[in-house]
Amino acid sequence: MNLLALQQMKAQGEKIAVLTSYDASFAALSDKAGVEVLLVGDSLGMTIQGHSSTLPVSLRDMEYHTRCVANGAKNAFIVTDMPFGSYQKTPEQAFENAALLMAAGAQMVKIEGGAIMLDTVRFLVERGIPVCGHLGLTPQSVHQLGGYRVQAKDEATARRLLEDAKALAQAGSGMLVLEMVPAALAAAVSQAVHIPVIGIGAGKYCDGQVLVVQDMLGIYAGKSPRFVRNFMQGAANIEQAITDYVAAVKAQTFPAVEHSFE
Ligand code: KIV
Repeated sequence: MNLLALQQMKAQGEKIAVLTSYDASFAALSDKAGVEVLLVGDSLGMTIQGHSSTLPVSLRDMEYHTRCVANGAKNAFIVTDMPFGSYQKTPEQAFENAALLMAAGAQMVKIEGGAIMLDTVRFLVERGIPVCGHLGLTPQSVHQLGGYRVQAKDEATARRLLEDAKALAQAGSGMLVLEMVPAALAAAVSQAVHIPVIGIGAGKYCDGQVLVVQDMLGIYAGKSPRFVRNFMQGAANIEQAITDYVAAVKAQTFPAVEHSFE
C-alpha cells in the first residue's frame, strides 16, 4: 500500500479502511484482515498509557510505537501522529521531529490544525515527508475546545473548515482526517478535495473511516464515543472483528446514521 494507491482508491470510489495500531501483534492482525492504513495515533496516551488526553505523549513514545507497528505490518501504509509540542513551533522543528518518526518506520506523519499549519505542511512535503492533516475535533486542543465535542456546527465554522481543508490539500497534504463534524460537511469536504478524507464521527460519505482499535473491540475502559461500533459483538475472535470492520467500511454499512452527527 502507498499514497498513490490510496489516492487511486478515492478516485475509483473504493472506501479506505483505517485503524489505529500501537504494537506488532495488532499491526500484523489488522494487516492480515485487510486494513489499508495503520495509524499510530497519539490516542495511545489514553489507550496504552492511561492518561485522560493525548497531551502527555512524547516523541520518544511515538517513535517506539511506530517501530513496533512497522515490525508487524507487511502491506499497510503507516501514518504516525506527531505528538503535542513536536511540530507547532517552526517548520524546522517539525522537520527534525518528523524525520525521526520516518526513520522509525512511518510513511506519513499526521499533524493537527488548519491555516496555521500551511507553511509547515509545505516545508515537510517539499523535503520528502508526506503529511496527513487533521481537522474538526483536534484532540491536542481539547482544553481550548472545551472538551470532546462536535465541531463546525454553524455556517461560519463549517465554511472555515472547508477552506482549511482545501488549503491543506493545496499545500501538499496527501490525506486528511476529519473528526467529529456533521456528516453533510464531511461529504462536502470529501467532494471538494482530491486527497482521501478519512472520517471518525464524520458520517459515511468520507473516502474512508478510522476507529481506535480498542474502541471497536470494546476493550477501552473509558466512555465509548457515540460514533463507535463494537465489532466484537457477533465476532468469534479479534481477527474476525477487524475483518468485519473492513467489510462494513467497504460496504458503507459503517458508520450508520446513529454513529453520525447532523
Ligand atoms: O490519535 C488517534 O488515534 C487519532 C484518531 C482519533 C484519528 O488521531
